[in-house]
Amino acid sequence: MSRPLTIAIDGPAAAGKGTLAKRIAARYGLPYLDTGLLYRAVGKLAFDAGVDLDDAARATDIAKRLEFSHLDDPALRGHEAGEHASRVAVHPGVRAALVDFQRSFAGQHAGAVLDGRDIGTVIWPQARVKIFVTASAEVRARRRTDELLAKGRAVDYDRILAEVKARDERDAGRTVAPLKAADDAHLLDTSELDIDGAFRAACEAIERSLA
Ligand code: CDP
Repeated sequence: MSRPLTIAIDGPAAAGKGTLAKRIAARYGLPYLDTGLLYRAVGKLAFDAGVDLDDAARATDIAKRLEFSHLDDPALRGHEAGEHASRVAVHPGVRAALVDFQRSFAGQHAGAVLDGRDIGTVIWPQARVKIFVTASAEVRARRRTDELLAKGRAVDYDRILAEVKARDERDAGRTVAPLKAADDAHLLDTSELDIDGAFRAACEAIERSLA
């Protein structure tokens, strides 16, 4: 039997990983996990409970008790939830508590698509295909601003750009599982690509890996 098709998609905030990962999963008929939702759920539960997000012990406790039904909450998709996620995601205990769930998803016989920050480096280094999606901070901030404006939120591009840069620094600078491309990842810079262009480039990279 051939190895299951497991595709790891990593990259910084607002690079377009989620949209791309969903389309790839649909194209190849694979189950999909947005691992950011796990960190978002821990961040939101901690924040709602009034826990200091820098308190590693309490955040870890929440991660250990996370129920996967929590992932359906639409509020997890919001901008603030992303910021809270990135703060709790620096704690090694939080990351450790979420590893087993991600690995059992990645290890399905049917194969899987997972997107996140450390899928190709830590969670599933044996993935058959790894794609690292990037775009300049300015392009990502523009996309995030437009997304929020479309939802009717009053937002300021310069503030979002500062947040994107701060989030990059926090995600890439943490000691455990920092954001970085695996040595064997295909680099996909979407700065000049729309979603159809990014999808085509990703499918070409997948086909090359499978050939
Ligand atoms: O795409 P966006 O960055 O807005 O959101 P996300 O992928 O849901 O990730 C939110 C935050 O969760 C990131 O900034 C990371 O700090 C953290 N995260 C992580 O550390 N590891 C993952 N596998 C996924 C998310």
